[in-house]
Amino acid sequence: MDKIQSLKGMIDLIGNKSDSKDFAESIFTTEEVLKNIFTNYGYSEIRTPALEDADLFKRSVGDSSDIVNKELYSFLDKNEKSITLRPEGTASVIRSVIEKKIDGNTHKFWYLGPMWRYERPQKGRYRQFNQAGVEILGYPEGVAELEIISLILSINTILNIEKSLIKINHLGNKDTKAKYCNALLEYLKPFVSQLDQLDQSRLKKNPLRILDSQNEKTKEILIDAPIIKDFLCNKSLKMLEMLEETFSKDCKIEIDFQMVRGLDYYTGIVFEAISDELGSQDSYLGGGRYDDLSEQLGGKKLPCIGMAIGIERLALLANKNSDDKTLISFIILSSNFEEKAYKIAHNLRIINPKIVIDVQLSDGSLKSKLRKASKNKAKYAMIMGEEEIKTSKIILKPLVEENSEQIVMSVDEMSSFVKDIS
Ligand code: HAM
Repeated sequence: MDKIQSLKGMIDLIGNKSDSKDFAESIFTTEEVLKNIFTNYGYSEIRTPALEDADLFKRSVGDSSDIVNKELYSFLDKNEKSITLRPEGTASVIRSVIEKKIDGNTHKFWYLGPMWRYERPQKGRYRQFNQAGVEILGYPEGVAELEIISLILSINTILNIEKSLIKINHLGNKDTKAKYCNALLEYLKPFVSQLDQLDQSRLKKNPLRILDSQNEKTKEILIDAPIIKDFLCNKSLKMLEMLEETFSKDCKIEIDFQMVRGLDYYTGIVFEAISDELGSQDSYLGGGRYDDLSEQLGGKKLPCIGMAIGIERLALLANKNSDDKTLISFIILSSNFEEKAYKIAHNLRIINPKIVIDVQLSDGSLKSKLRKASKNKAKYAMIMGEEEIKTSKIILKPLVEENSEQIVMSVDEMSSFVKDIS
């Protein structure tokens, strides 16, 4: 019979606690770290459904975006209603706030969960991926911009992300965007026939998106194109300069007037954090202000800013820089004294929470258990057989240092040894 396999671009995350560099494990740890940071910043959790009315994303992320144009998982349900697996979280948060008439003028939300985009899978790009995001609702341009960049810095610091560059730009308000789009259209008129199909359709739907073009010819044509900087008011330019100045002492941050981001709802500040350690999919988070989205979806005027983090990409970076946790494989050679061994393992874990003690549960020979310990990259094996249990001793066998002898220790000596492991 044919084997049933997972769908292309959708991965199983199967944890392996005994390997601190395991990808799935770093994803789970990264998620926990992010939840803590969001909570410490005073954000509340919001959990919206994975399925939404297909129109939600057309009216928010926008018809001109690749996400809506090519990447939506949309289908008809049994009632012939067109529904979509969410490709991002922002539109759902705003839909929910409008629909539930949530009280209060200001809110700070965080969310975490799977998103779906029908993209061409490659390293760091999946069809089902996980995002953690925050949305700050009800704050006009100002302090919320500072908070969100400060949040990125906290994430970078806590997860040890060193090689990060934060790029920022300002898209102006609706009118500025419209004026700039017209100027781009005017400039590109003589070149239209030289653009490929995709860029021609971008030009029709949202000329701003042409700045994202990967086509070499288009890039060449765009060298002399008008830039948004010349259309921004003083206040917007000052905002960009203020952000750059405030944070440049603590991180690499630069203004990039070419960056427009791939979602239509943005106005005002937009940003992305990239790392060249990620390869071609180098952006591990992105966001910006979207002051008109609430009204666009039938709600009241609500200035908002937010961002979303690609968990898989962030975990890859965090994993690279994480310290190796010391793994000790605890080998018990008789089921008669498992209870005593468990108590010892429990106490050792309390003495030094930085170590991982993997009690090998299976039956089997000492040789096969040692082989498993080495395979899991354990630094030591702790062995207890009949003799050791009688004399309350434990054998400590180093597994990575060559030619090092095993040592017999008392339980107290083992506690002191474990305490000193850094
Ligand atoms: P986005 O830039 O489309 O923004 O996605 C945010 C992050 O999700 C990206 O920087 C990337 O790390 C990750 N990501 C996107 N697509 C994939 C994929 N196919 N595979 C793996 N990771 C991926 C948004 O989604 C906006 N909702 C952000 C936002 C929140 N703006 C305001 N509030």
